[in-house]
Amino acid sequence: MKFGHFDDEQREYVISRPDTPLPWINYLGCEAYFGLMSNTAGGYSFYRDARLRRLTRYRYNNAPLDMGGRYLYLRDAAGRYWSPTWMPTRVKLDEYECRHGQGYTIITSKFNGMKFSARYFVPLGESLEIWQVTLTNENASPADLSLFSAVEFCLWDANDDATNYQRNYSIGQVEIVDDVIYHKSEYRERRDHFAYFACSEKLAGFDTIREEFLGPYRGWDEPVVVEEGKSRNSEAHGWQPIGSHHVNVRLKAGEQKQIIFILGYHENPKDDKFDPPGSQVINKKTVKPVIAKYLKSENADKAFNDLREYWTGLLGKIQVTTPDEHTNRMVNIWNAYQCMVTFNMSRSASYFESGIGRGMGFRDSTQDLLGFVHMVPERARERILDVSATQLKNGGAFHQYQPLTKRGNNDVGSGFNDDPLWLVLAVSAYLRESGDWSILDEPVQYENEPGTESSLYEHLQRAIQYILDRPGPHKLPLIGRADWNDCLNLNCFSDTPGQSFQTTTNKDGKSAESVFIAGLFVLACREMAGIAEHCGDQAQVEKVKKSAAEMEKVVWAAGWDGEWFRRAYDDFGHALGSKENAEGRIFIEPQGICVMAGLGLDAAPSSGSGNAVKALDAVREHLATPHGIVLNQPAFSQYYLHLGEISSYPAGYKENASVFCHTNPWVMIAETVVGRGDKAFDYYTRINPSAREEISELHKCEPYVYAQMIAGKDAVKPGEAKNSWLSGTAAWNYVAITQHILGIRPAFDGLEVRPVFPPGWDGFEAARDFRGVRYEISVKREGAGNSVSLEVDGKSILGTLIPLPDANKKTVKVKAVVR
Ligand code: GLC
Ligand code: GLC
Repeated sequence: MKFGHFDDEQREYVISRPDTPLPWINYLGCEAYFGLMSNTAGGYSFYRDARLRRLTRYRYNNAPLDMGGRYLYLRDAAGRYWSPTWMPTRVKLDEYECRHGQGYTIITSKFNGMKFSARYFVPLGESLEIWQVTLTNENASPADLSLFSAVEFCLWDANDDATNYQRNYSIGQVEIVDDVIYHKSEYRERRDHFAYFACSEKLAGFDTIREEFLGPYRGWDEPVVVEEGKSRNSEAHGWQPIGSHHVNVRLKAGEQKQIIFILGYHENPKDDKFDPPGSQVINKKTVKPVIAKYLKSENADKAFNDLREYWTGLLGKIQVTTPDEHTNRMVNIWNAYQCMVTFNMSRSASYFESGIGRGMGFRDSTQDLLGFVHMVPERARERILDVSATQLKNGGAFHQYQPLTKRGNNDVGSGFNDDPLWLVLAVSAYLRESGDWSILDEPVQYENEPGTESSLYEHLQRAIQYILDRPGPHKLPLIGRADWNDCLNLNCFSDTPGQSFQTTTNKDGKSAESVFIAGLFVLACREMAGIAEHCGDQAQVEKVKKSAAEMEKVVWAAGWDGEWFRRAYDDFGHALGSKENAEGRIFIEPQGICVMAGLGLDAAPSSGSGNAVKALDAVREHLATPHGIVLNQPAFSQYYLHLGEISSYPAGYKENASVFCHTNPWVMIAETVVGRGDKAFDYYTRINPSAREEISELHKCEPYVYAQMIAGKDAVKPGEAKNSWLSGTAAWNYVAITQHILGIRPAFDGLEVRPVFPPGWDGFEAARDFRGVRYEISVKREGAGNSVSLEVDGKSILGTLIPLPDANKKTVKVKAVVR
């Protein structure tokens, strides 16, 4: 069952009923000011940091679902009132529609002939959100309406706001001047910022005290002020400051009116906070023009059009037309959009990530970059330099860093031994995309310590060295606190409730090893060899090639189980992910990553020749399900002290045998490496959210973005997704489909076109911007294999790498024939 449909022309998902299985959200803003926005106007807003600069309140895990947001109420002369966005009153609407687009949401509805439409978005370059409301009286008689707005302010630090009531109930402060509500808690002391909530109309009244607006013991679904049709003009002093406007609207039959609200964030210079100086009154000199500007509908319209154009430009960098509509809309619109959101948010704020938990992950941010780098390479460059400046001198990494300070997070610390290798992959992706080799010479600090600078190139070498310095008993890399699988905690041995599995360590860490890191290491070495080659550093090329070859040998000696790659060795030296195990006999991660690294290919001149196909066949046999490939089998049926968090989850959820979507694209890519485009695409489709739209009732999460996990076959409800939006799944699926299945892949010295796609397709078209040149690519199938012949601007070339064109060339036409 569906709850809406895709409008690919408009690049929107159209939700046609408000009671979706879960709130289906969107993100407003893409620079500094952000809002989470559900299909019934739920959510909250923040400036840069979801924890430390939160503008409005939201209570997670609330009942009913999704309470708290950007609320509007309409009340007619007869005293009937309703929410034109359905929540919070849930009065049944005659019509309802929500359109989520890139950085904006439009909700329209109708109730008793009163048509409502609101467009919510954040103008580029501004720290404010606009709610552009249009009311149309479709009745034959005039209407006399009251419109009320309502937001609940957060006292900035969302964690403190949700816990420190003894202080917070006494610090709330507002100013109401010229019909604008200013929220200024803590402005009197050390904050130089405030929030404001303005309306384009003359107000009939306002409220800023929550209990005055709602009435005692009432909720947002029946505010007494709305019921009575009259604001109380309350001025907050402590307690829970809110912002609510009351506007009287008189509409003749057929008449339409636009009303604009803006909710914004503003900073003043420290020494010019008050006006007049010495008073306690906010200096509004610089904010007033901003407010005035966006309360005019022509300016709001222009800002909206600019935002649309901005996204047309970003998404236009890669556009494809394949025989599969799910592929087209995910590549052209939604997957790229989600990549931008994950890049901006990391894992901080979604409807599953509270915004007060984790900082930016080292491994998360570096992987997010893979799906984003082609859109705004400059920001990828900046991110690389920020992340690498938190790297440790020994080449290791802080597992997380804080976005505001950009410093490593000591609470979580380091010792996730896969972390540094992702930096190599990220830098390599940036170099391939941009050709900006100068980044390697950038002086970058270690642990943000001045005076420790070395070139980024050396940072990469240290990342590789970090693994070489930590061999385990089988010469496989030691796993540390965990590798990519945060929950495979082989040194933890925690028996105390509440301890963090990731930071508790009861073993010396000298035994447990990871086959996954070994595979990732080989992959990173191959990238590093390419980088070093380009830099003319032959010694480094030899070194990493040799290290990779040695690691490969180790994998065949200790990491191969006969039919698939093993996963790890535990602290006792026992294999995990092996036929020896009763549970956790096979894991997805090493199969994907080792084959991606080129281990076990037919032509491989090593003992592993042919094992890649074997491993992938084992994945198909033991792990593939109609809802995607599960992480491990059999699932762990109980908690194992020596395995950690992975066995803490009930079977079929999260890291214990769910379809952990992040890992699926590794297998897709691996299938292309062994030349099986049909299988790669089949896996791609199984978790493609658009292809799952028909089963939205089961899937539950948004059909336009990937979720981190889909419940596995051992779960109570296989196929039910959780943790939508913020997941490495976005970037990796984007890479798998665009670079491997469709095969359009940036190389260090040009663009490669080497698709491995289903034999059933007769071809596809693609357009891609690459280093300032537009490549128009048309692929035709003339045989069932994967051999590619290229014609570039009418001339055949040898191989699949299109060399960079002359400097003045802006378009290159590519014809590929696949046989
Ligand atoms: C989450 C984390 C990611 C980790 C994965 C597997 O997605 O953000 O860093 O690799 O879980 O545990
Ligand atoms: C990852 C995992 C999650 C675990 C968390 C701990 O996000 O997906 O299961 O609880 O890491 O940091």
